[in-house]
Amino acid sequence: MGPAPLAHVLRPLTETFSADKHPELLVGLGLSDDAAVYRLNGTQAIIQTADFFAPVVDDPYAFGAIAAANAMSDVYAMGGQVLLALNIAGFPEDLPLDIVQEVFQGGADKVTEAGGVIAGGHTIQDEEPKYGLSVAGVVHPDKIVTKSHARAGDQLILTKPLGIGIITTALRNGAAKREHIDTAVDVMMTLNRAAAEAMQATGVHAATDITGYGLLGHGLEMAQNSGVGLRIIAEDLPLLPGTREYAMAGHVPGGTSRNDEHVAPHIQNYLDLDETIRLIGLDPQTSGGLLIAVAPDHTEMLLSELDERGVAAWRIGEVVSGRDVEVV
Ligand code: CO
Ligand code: CO
Repeated sequence: MGPAPLAHVLRPLTETFSADKHPELLVGLGLSDDAAVYRLNGTQAIIQTADFFAPVVDDPYAFGAIAAANAMSDVYAMGGQVLLALNIAGFPEDLPLDIVQEVFQGGADKVTEAGGVIAGGHTIQDEEPKYGLSVAGVVHPDKIVTKSHARAGDQLILTKPLGIGIITTALRNGAAKREHIDTAVDVMMTLNRAAAEAMQATGVHAATDITGYGLLGHGLEMAQNSGVGLRIIAEDLPLLPGTREYAMAGHVPGGTSRNDEHVAPHIQNYLDLDETIRLIGLDPQTSGGLLIAVAPDHTEMLLSELDERGVAAWRIGEVVSGRDVEVV
C-alpha cells in the first residue's frame, strides 16, 4: 500500500484517539514513523510494530528469516532493542508441514540472533503464504530516533546497498544469476541491530529504514516530517551487484510505479534524472538498510562506530534547508 492511501486509512484513528488524551504515546498519532512508542516510565518506552508479506524468495527458511529481519527493522530504526515477537502467518492448507516449519525456523533463528524471543502468534489458512511478526522493543524515552529531527547540514548515511526489489523481480522472472540472488538474500537477512547500536553510541538526529517506498519515498518522508530538504548524490548510491543490468532489462517491481506517483511531484529535476537512477531510487526494498541523518561533526564517529560493528555504510548526500528531495 502506498503512502497516500495508508494515510487515508489511518486518519479515522487520529479522530478516535486524540494525542492529548494519550500523553504516554510518544510516537504514533502524530507524524507517521516506523513504529509506535509508548512511555512506561522515566527510563523505558516500549516500541511496537508489525509487518508481514508474501514470499520474496523461493527458499522457505530464507523467507522466514527475511520477514523477521524486516519486521524487527522498525524497532532498530527507532534506536531500540528487540524484546519479544509474535508470529503472524497464513499458509495454504495443502502446503507441506515441513515447509511451514522451515519458515517459522528462519524467523525464530533471526529473533534469537536479535536477542529476543518468539512468544507465540497466530496462523490462519490463506491461499498465498504470508509471514511476519508483531515485535515489541524497548528504548530510553530520551533516545528515541524518529524521522522528524533531521537538520540542515546533517550528513546522510545509508547502511545497505539498494536494488533488492529489482533483483527479487528478476528472480521471479527467472532472469537473476544465482550469485546476485545470494548476495541480495544475505543483505535482506542482515539485521539492522548493529546499525542501531552504532547510531545510539553516536547520537544522531533522525533515522528510518528503507522498505516499500524506496529510498526516495522514505527520504521524502524524513524531509517532510523534519521540515527540511534532502540532496542525494546519485553516483554515491551503493548498489547490489546486478541491479543496473536487471533494471535496464525491465525487471521493475510493481511497487515502483506506485512510488513514482507519490514521490515524483516532490523530487526536484525529476524528469532530468537518468531512468536507471529513478528506478533505483523508487525501488521498493525488503528489509533494507537505515537512512541516518547525523550532524557533520558526528559523521566520522558514526562511520567508525558502524565500521567497528562490521556494518557497511555509505555517505549518500546531505540535509539542506528548504523542502523536497533533490538528486544530483
Ligand atoms: Co520502517
Ligand atoms: Co514496516
